Amino acid sequence: MPGLVDARQIDRASISRHLDRARSLREGDPPLAAPTCVALVFAEPSTRTRVAFAQAVARLGGRALHVDAAGSSLAKGEGMEETIRVLGALEVDGVVLRTPVDGLPADLAAAGLGPWLVNAGDGRGQHPTQALGDTLTILAAGLEPEGLKVAMVGDLTGSRVAHSLLDLWPRLGVDLRVLPCGPWEGQAERLQDMGEATAWAEVVYALRPQTERWSERRRAVWSGDEGAAGPDEVAKGDYFARFGVASLAPGQRLMAPGPCWPGVDVAPSLLFADQSLVLDQVTWGMYGRMALMEGLAS
Ligand code: CP
Repeated sequence: MPGLVDARQIDRASISRHLDRARSLREGDPPLAAPTCVALVFAEPSTRTRVAFAQAVARLGGRALHVDAAGSSLAKGEGMEETIRVLGALEVDGVVLRTPVDGLPADLAAAGLGPWLVNAGDGRGQHPTQALGDTLTILAAGLEPEGLKVAMVGDLTGSRVAHSLLDLWPRLGVDLRVLPCGPWEGQAERLQDMGEATAWAEVVYALRPQTERWSERRRAVWSGDEGAAGPDEVAKGDYFARFGVASLAPGQRLMAPGPCWPGVDVAPSLLFADQSLVLDQVTWGMYGRMALMEGLAS
């Protein structure tokens, strides 16, 4: 089943190909191919990813069909596999899937259900099109991935974006170090604190607390309804001091996949400042998805 479910499917050659096509499309070149109809199946909320895919399909000349969990037969207990088989019978070219279930897109892709499948974010798993758009963003900003110093700070454990970037960026030569909030068993080198992160990095990549995926206990500590925070816990009032981006050095760039919580993960004055690439990530995310779906349609 063709598609993209995991950042490990992306390599240097595909990044280069997608960047060329994304740049051409952004300059107004016509699409080389387009899907007729793509189903956007979203079983979790989304602004950037959902609208970027919808825009991308429309700009290629195709049509997006929105299938929300609450307004579809998913709410009546139909499974995701059955849903995708039904969409295939309705002759959609492809399915874009966001789901809270870790690993579901990879399992469905392995089952080969008919339409191509793109993972738009699965639980704590993967968010490969965010990783693709973020990579296009650094390249378009003139940053060379080889040796680029990136400090990823905040809730890495709950972040599928972190998992995809930690799979992809080191393979492109990025020196990716982490300051995790909460339990973290990844291989990346750890930074001591925000002082070290901002002194060292060329790019600070901020991750919000993904509280919707936290345990009850962690959420209670967060909201101040429990006693003292344990080593892997943090109260809302402490997050900014420990993991928030309060300042940037001259020339340093800010990235964040969003949604951001100004005042919690990033200082409000920095979110859309000149040094911020946050909105570029959104725009390149759309052009990257155009390039990806153009390739899937050809
Ligand atoms: N970055 C991202 O996935 O944002 P949305 O949840 O708004 O799609």
